[in-house]
Amino acid sequence: MKTPDFVQLHHDSAEHIRHELVQGLTANPQPGGATVSPKFLYDALGSRLFEAITELPEYYPTRTEAAIFKTHAQAMARAMPPGATLIDLGAGNCGKATGLFDVLRPSRYVAVDISVDFLRATLNLLQRQYPAMDLVGIGLDFSQTLELPPQAGEPGAGPRLLFYPGSSIGNFTPTQALVFLRQVRAACGPVAGSGLLIGVDLVKDATELEAAYDDALGVTAAFNRNLISNVNRLVGTDMRLPDWAHHALFNPMASRIEMHLVAQRDLMVQWPGGQRAFSQGERIHTENSYKWTVAGFSQLLREAGFAEPLVWTDAPSADAGRFAVMWAGA
Ligand code: AVJ
Repeated sequence: MKTPDFVQLHHDSAEHIRHELVQGLTANPQPGGATVSPKFLYDALGSRLFEAITELPEYYPTRTEAAIFKTHAQAMARAMPPGATLIDLGAGNCGKATGLFDVLRPSRYVAVDISVDFLRATLNLLQRQYPAMDLVGIGLDFSQTLELPPQAGEPGAGPRLLFYPGSSIGNFTPTQALVFLRQVRAACGPVAGSGLLIGVDLVKDATELEAAYDDALGVTAAFNRNLISNVNRLVGTDMRLPDWAHHALFNPMASRIEMHLVAQRDLMVQWPGGQRAFSQGERIHTENSYKWTVAGFSQLLREAGFAEPLVWTDAPSADAGRFAVMWAGA
């Protein structure tokens, strides 16, 4: 039996994280106001709350994407080369990728996530199921730059399938998404047959979108408000949960869901070395989740250097779908 290979590339220092958070918290009301990156939603509790979100009746993306993979698995397998290196960006528990192993038949699986520690147990277990597969866990924050280390495998060794499911691409602005997709295109390497398999959430009715990000049970509100506890821990701020409410809205001009935390009264946030006043109603912007059309995202893929994509959705006609899975050859 083989054994998985693990590598951790750079970890942000506590000092660097504090600096980034304070920059966002003290940003001027004009133009944008206070912001905190959505990556701070995912502490241990936040990650579990996100898993709970995927079970909510209102949150359609996860189960819609899973249904698309299930329905169109054979068509996907025909489009993609067998024996490839499957590179999973934001692998988490690796469940989405391993669910495709039997159709895609990769020879090597490279799981990339922010911390390699999340990947160890999963990959060690997976190796028992797939004793002959090369398994690699890479700890890397690819949201800034995607540069794969040598452990990912020789780029010229065979075709590469880059896998980016879950509509995580929605956290990037269109400009950032283009930069990121160009890096993904480069990471596909020189071998013919390589490409990107990606999940993209589609524009739809604002009522349905807003319900998905402001569910009746209040799980998304808890997910958003839990960021306050995480920031308190990381920065030493003294924010109190009752002072902040969850707000989610669809911004049709930007084609994005925005999540905010709204101050419920005039208050002062203090931390070692600084403070900031918030007036009642003032917000901290915590997440954007961009929604694409099939045509708009296909064009973005082409601008990033990919071929015209194959598109699968949950509806007979692509544009009527709620979610799309796209395969774009490099
Ligand atoms: C993990 C970024 C795909 O945007 O739908 C879910 C995160 N935020 N509910 C999304 C999220 C609120 C999710 N992504």
